Amino acid sequence: MLVFESPKEVQLFLKQLRGEGKVIGFVPTMGALHEGHLRLIRKARKESDVTVVSIFVNPIQFDDPGDFQRYPRTLHEDRYKLEMEGVQVLFLPSPEGMYPPGYSTFVEVENLDRYMEGAHRPGHFRGVATVVLKLFNIVKPHFAVFGLKDAQQYYIVKRMVEDLNLDLEIVPHETVREPDGLAMSSRNRLLSPESRKQATALYRALKLGKEMMFSGERDPKRIKAEMEKLLRTEAPLGKIDYIEIASLPDLQPVERVEGKVLLALAVRFPEARLIDNFILIPEDGLVWNERID
Ligand code: PAJ
Repeated sequence: MLVFESPKEVQLFLKQLRGEGKVIGFVPTMGALHEGHLRLIRKARKESDVTVVSIFVNPIQFDDPGDFQRYPRTLHEDRYKLEMEGVQVLFLPSPEGMYPPGYSTFVEVENLDRYMEGAHRPGHFRGVATVVLKLFNIVKPHFAVFGLKDAQQYYIVKRMVEDLNLDLEIVPHETVREPDGLAMSSRNRLLSPESRKQATALYRALKLGKEMMFSGERDPKRIKAEMEKLLRTEAPLGKIDYIEIASLPDLQPVERVEGKVLLALAVRFPEARLIDNFILIPEDGLVWNERID
């Protein structure tokens, strides 16, 4: 595996490979790699000649400096895992390399960031869109794989690619879960044993919301109220940031459940904030991000 720290150098190297007709697949990450990341990487490996992974804990997408500081960094283990997966190129930029003095350009995807993560983490998606566009311009992949665990991020990146006429495909990957249903996340390792136990309630709350929708409930208020009750009883250590039902792909809260919707929630445990979601088509009895390939 070749490791690059300089944006310019990796850009030159990949430009050459692209010129030789190689298909370049890309998986951007912030490291602390888990099985969820590795599944995205395997998907990229299957469909590309050269798989590029980036690890960069992007400072401008953290609204909370404490969260940035606590974010797990496990570079040694990450490199080993990527070698084992047969990744050809690892891009490891530094904050100064990405945002040198005088850096002034930011990307904002309007409206799609108004609710859920966008509302609770001011500036978060501006930081995500900016770094993702920079990474796309450096790597120039034919496609990039994004996980639906971060559904709002996926739809915002898709919108940006369309709006800015970027010449690449955004490939979605289903949410990868622990055997007990907890969505895999780099932040899970920060949880105390008690929080970790209670964290499985997020998945149960989503399943309850799903069952209500599949049984014909179309009032978001009633669905959210039942989910809230479940979380309050089964995850008393967690403080609910939001439970939302939003239309897709525009990510606006709905008055009535209809068509493809995002059922999303965020819960703050003492050690870490967790998010999870289902992308549902209630009329078809389908959860899109539980099995898409
Ligand atoms: P990170 O949280 O490291 O996630 C990297 C990619 O892995 C994202 O596309 C995310 O959705 C996906 N992912 C994480 N956990 C997953 C799971 N349990 N199942 C499926 N996919 C999962 O998301 C980011 O980093 C950053 O915002 C980034 C896009 C790299 C920009 O800085």
